[in-house]
Amino acid sequence: MKKPVRVAVTGAAGQIGYALLFRIASGEMLGKDQPVILQLLDLPQAQKAVQGVMMELQDCAFPLLDSMIATDNPEVAFKDADIAILVGARPRGPGMERADLLQANAQIFTVQGAALNKVASRDVKVLVVGNPANTNAYIAMKSAPDLPAKNFTAMLRLDHNRAASQLAEKTGKAVRDIEKLCVWGNHSPTMYADYRFATIGGESVKDLINDQDWNANVFLPTVGKRGAAIIEARGLSSAASAANAAIDHIRDWVLGTNGKWVTMGVPSDGSYGIPAETIFGFPVTCENGEYKIVQGLEIDAFSQERIDKTLAELQAEKDGVKDLL
Ligand code: NAD
Ligand code: LMR
Repeated sequence: MKKPVRVAVTGAAGQIGYALLFRIASGEMLGKDQPVILQLLDLPQAQKAVQGVMMELQDCAFPLLDSMIATDNPEVAFKDADIAILVGARPRGPGMERADLLQANAQIFTVQGAALNKVASRDVKVLVVGNPANTNAYIAMKSAPDLPAKNFTAMLRLDHNRAASQLAEKTGKAVRDIEKLCVWGNHSPTMYADYRFATIGGESVKDLINDQDWNANVFLPTVGKRGAAIIEARGLSSAASAANAAIDHIRDWVLGTNGKWVTMGVPSDGSYGIPAETIFGFPVTCENGEYKIVQGLEIDAFSQERIDKTLAELQAEKDGVKDLL
């Protein structure tokens, strides 16, 4: 048996936590031969609920679940963590934008970034799910100066998956056959889901659709506002699809993508003119536990305008939290 991997999950008593933990423990994230230790963090008032989730995890008798702990102390939760999935934060309600959560949630990520800095594995892979995810990941990264900045990522995989499904529906083809899709920028309505390079079953998606009006006026708003549409329909923000995207993000980062593009929010290295350290959705490939931003893509005028808009929003969010850092 392999050595167990320590996976810290925050917001363990929440709705995403409930959709996520059982799949991690069953081996869907790190592989069916990889034991895990779950280190669960939530607020003091949620500890009873976390105990209930742990009772259910126990009752599943997962062969890969080595052990688990619950705590309200980030330094206990993140001790020697190899993977940290930061979900715990307030979700938005109807009529709110994710950026409206910034003041409520930003402090969480200064504290948790500092705790990761102090006690986590030096190779910890961090995924921020709590909104606004890109800026929270930036805050955590800046609060952890002793850890490599590249270890901090934000979740844009849900947007990537949403875009893929919309394209499969539009073309009448199978979602599993989509390659070379990406979502640039912020996890917000300004995100730019870009199918100019995408293929489906080897055919160009752009040529198959051949409708720029549909791209600008149907596809982009549908993907960009999908989170709000779920809130409107369910009265709660997305949970199972968000947990699924978190599993996809970490699985691909750890186990690799075999050359396939996926979207991750990662600190920019200056690629495509995005200022260094901005946590930006990029097309990446993953190999040997590292991601690499896909290089050399042509950015046309329409795409540049979209990328500029989402970047400007991220810069404004960053300015809004500069006093915390
Ligand atoms: P929820 O309210 O059901 O659960 C949040 C949990 O976090 C609660 O158990 C709460 O007690 C806990 N929590 C709050 N502050 C904490 C802290 N400081 N430390 C540890 N735990 C803390 O919310 P949810 O539906 O699970 O959503 C969680 C977050 O994920 C929200 O911010 C939501 O907007 C975001 N989200 C992001 C994406 C994405 O694609 N990036 C998708 C869906 C939801
Ligand atoms: C989503 O995209 O579903 C989440 O970010 C939740 C939200 O507030 O939209």
